Amino acid sequence: NFVYFLKGLNFIADRIKEKFGCEDVLITPGDSDVDETVKSLMGKEAASYLRSFLKNGDIVAVTGGTTMAQVPKGMPRLEGYEDVVVVAARGGLGEKVEIQANTIAAELAERLGARYRLLYVPDNLGPEAMESITSEPRIKEVLSLIKRADVVIHGIGRAEEMARRRGLDESVIKKILKNGAVAEAFGYYFDSEGRVVFTTTSAGLSVNDLKNVRKVISVAGGAKKAPAIRAFLKYHCPTALITDEGAARKLIELE
Ligand code: BG6
Repeated sequence: NFVYFLKGLNFIADRIKEKFGCEDVLITPGDSDVDETVKSLMGKEAASYLRSFLKNGDIVAVTGGTTMAQVPKGMPRLEGYEDVVVVAARGGLGEKVEIQANTIAAELAERLGARYRLLYVPDNLGPEAMESITSEPRIKEVLSLIKRADVVIHGIGRAEEMARRRGLDESVIKKILKNGAVAEAFGYYFDSEGRVVFTTTSAGLSVNDLKNVRKVISVAGGAKKAPAIRAFLKYHCPTALITDEGAARKLIELE
């Protein structure tokens, strides 16, 4: 599109693709740090990217967050996906219900005319409680579905902000930051080289599983998030990065 061309966003997208090896990089104009509506543009972009390859029968795992919350909103009502199952990729954060993975899974399924399964496992449980809850047959079934996901769509956050949002103790937050964490995704914390430096106890998809997933779509923007996006891309290069101009420009500046 014209705005895209005018702003040289194609050029920036190619640079990011080359640098990190993602198959596709899609950049929406604007910066979601200063304009919240840019998140809805990213949501629309992610939704149309998903539609471009989604097959009936696919299992789609999603995470939460304010950016991911825009993905179902950007999806028109569709038919022909009744055998798609949408599921939360990880246990709950205890955040506002609108931005929880379970809510996003249900909303996305509704738009697709698909089915959904909810994951009722809170984050940060002690090892015993986690063990006992994840051995429940109904929970086990959902966890095995997640492990077989064909598509994963997820957000990326800044380490400190996410550690606070996830309600970690101040001492733990200090430790995570001391270990150099700059990014968070799926409850994993990464340093600027893309090394995992801390993991929260949570059930569901592990970042290790990403390499076996057919399509991984990362959705994150805002100039402030660029170091976090960079760190995650160093850990795993997704099939597609859906981002905004603010983050994209900063990303190539960081190189
Ligand atoms: C969370 C995801 O819910 O959203 C995280 O589980 C991600 O992995 C975060 O980092 C991003 O949130 P937001 O609101 O910045 O899109």
